[in-house]
Amino acid sequence: MKKDLRSHWSLRFLIIYRKMVTRNGMLYPILGFASCVAFLYMSFGDLKLSANFTKGPRFSFVERNGTQFFLNGKPLYINGWNSYWLMAHSVDESSRPKVSAMLQAGAKMGLTVCRTWAFNDGGYNALQISPGQFDERVFKALDYVIAEARQQGIRLLLSLVNNLQPYGGKTQYVNWAWQEGVGLSSSNDSFFFDPSIRKYFKNYVLTVLTRKNTITGIQYRNDPTIFAWELINEPRCMTDPSGDTLQDWVEEMSAFIKSIDKNHLLTIGLEGFYGPSSPKKATVNPEQWASALGADFMRNSNITNVDFASVHIYPDQWFHGLGFEEKRNYVSKWMHSHIEDCDKELKKPVMFTEYGLSDQNKDFQLSQREQLYRTIQDIIYKSAKKKGSGAGALVWQFFVEGMQEYSDDFGMVPWQSPPIYKLTIEHSCKLARIQGLIQENGNLKQLCSKRK
Ligand SMILES: *[C@@H]1O[C@H](CO)[C@@H](O)[C@H](O)[C@H]1NC(C)=O
Ligand SMILES: *[C@@H]1O[C@H](CO)[C@@H](O)[C@H](O)[C@H]1NC(C)=O
Ligand SMILES: *[C@@H]1O[C@H](CO)[C@@H](O)[C@H](O)[C@H]1NC(C)=O
Repeated sequence: MKKDLRSHWSLRFLIIYRKMVTRNGMLYPILGFASCVAFLYMSFGDLKLSANFTKGPRFSFVERNGTQFFLNGKPLYINGWNSYWLMAHSVDESSRPKVSAMLQAGAKMGLTVCRTWAFNDGGYNALQISPGQFDERVFKALDYVIAEARQQGIRLLLSLVNNLQPYGGKTQYVNWAWQEGVGLSSSNDSFFFDPSIRKYFKNYVLTVLTRKNTITGIQYRNDPTIFAWELINEPRCMTDPSGDTLQDWVEEMSAFIKSIDKNHLLTIGLEGFYGPSSPKKATVNPEQWASALGADFMRNSNITNVDFASVHIYPDQWFHGLGFEEKRNYVSKWMHSHIEDCDKELKKPVMFTEYGLSDQNKDFQLSQREQLYRTIQDIIYKSAKKKGSGAGALVWQFFVEGMQEYSDDFGMVPWQSPPIYKLTIEHSCKLARIQGLIQENGNLKQLCSKRK
C-alpha cells in the first residue's frame, strides 16, 4: 500500500519536473528540484497537480454529429497510427522511455490518434490474470500510457479484447470458462454467445471504464485523452455465417458500454467485410470467403450505439497473385465503397483503423508502401474537403528503434524511411490546414509552416 503510494507520487513528481525543465529550458540542481517539488506539493497538493493535466493543449471529448467527428465545435479528420504494444512496454520502468518516445514522435509528425491494446488476458504481464482479477502493476502501466498520451497531445483509440490469440483474446476467455466448469462449449466463438463469458467480458469492461488513473486522478470514462473505445479487434464468428450471433453480441456490449460511459465514442473494430444483409455489395469483398465470416459490415455498423464504422485494409492478406497496381486499385474501390455506405446509408463517420503493405511480397519495394499510403491518405483528404464521412486512417504499425521483435510484415520506424516520414507530415498538415487548426496549435504551426 505504502509502496504503491510512493511510486504514484514519484511519477507525478517526474511529470512536474519535466514541465519545469521545458518551461525554463534548463536543468535544476537535484536539491533545488526536490525542495521545489516538495513546496509545490505541500502548498497546492492535488489541486495544483491535477491542474497540470488540464492546462496545455485544450482537451475536450471528440464528438460526432451525423457523418463527422467534431472537436471543440469544429469538424475533425484524423491522421494517426497503431502501436499496440504501449501498455506492454510500460510495465517495466526500463522500457517506458520507448512509449514516451513513440508518442512524442507521433506528435512530431502531426498525428493525433494512436490505436493501442487496453487488454492483455492471461499470459505474460497480463492485465487480467483470470476473470475479474487484475494485476495492479499492469493497470498502472495503462495509466501511464494514458497520462503520457495526454502530455504529448495524442488521443487513444483503446481496444478492449482480441478476436485473435495474441494477448489472450477470445480463446483465453473460453479457456477460463472451461477451467471454471461454466463454459458451454470449447469453440472459441462461444466467447460471443456463452452467458458466463459475456459476464466475464462485461466485468472486464466495467473495471476498465471505471478505473481511476493513479497518475492523473481521472476515471477512464471521464478522460478526453481517450478518443474512443473499440469493442474487439477484427471480430469474426465463423460458426454463425448468418451474422446473428455477432450482431447480438455487439448490440448487448455496445449498450452496456454506453450505460457506463456516455462521454466516449464507440466503434466495433471490424475488418469491413460485407455480409448477408447487403448481398449486392458482396462483389466489393476481396473474395467469396469474406461474406461468410459471421461479420456483416452494414448490419453491425448500423447499431445505434456504434458511433462510427471501422474498416481495415490488407490487400496482401486478402489476395494472392495480384500485382501492386491491382492491389492499389482495389484499395481505392474498397475505401470509396465504405465511405459511400457511411455518407448515404449509415450516416456516421468511418475510420480506416488499420492499413498496411507487407514487406514480404517478393517484389516489395519501400516506394510501393509510400504509394499505397499516399492513395489512402488522398482519399481521406478528399473526403475531408467535402466534409464527408471518411474521417481518418491509422497506419499499421509504427514502433521505435530497438524493438524489432514487436514488428511484423507491416511495421516500421517511420523516420528510417524519409519519404514516408515526409508524406505523413504532409498529410497531417493538409488535414490541419482545411480544419483551420494550424494557427491555434504551436506544434503544427512549426511543423507545417515550411510546407505548402
Ligand atoms: C448537428 O448538425 C446539425 C446540422 O448541421 C445541426 O443542426 C445540429 O445542431 C448539430 N447538433 C449538435 C448536437 O451539434
Ligand atoms: C480457435 O481455436 C482453434 C483451436 O480450437 C484455433 O486453431 C484457432 O486458431 C482459434 N481461433 C482464434 C481466432 O483464436
Ligand atoms: C439501419 O437501421 C434502420 C432502423 O433502425 C433501418 O431503417 C435501416 O434500413 C438500416 N440501414 C441499414 C443499412 O441496415
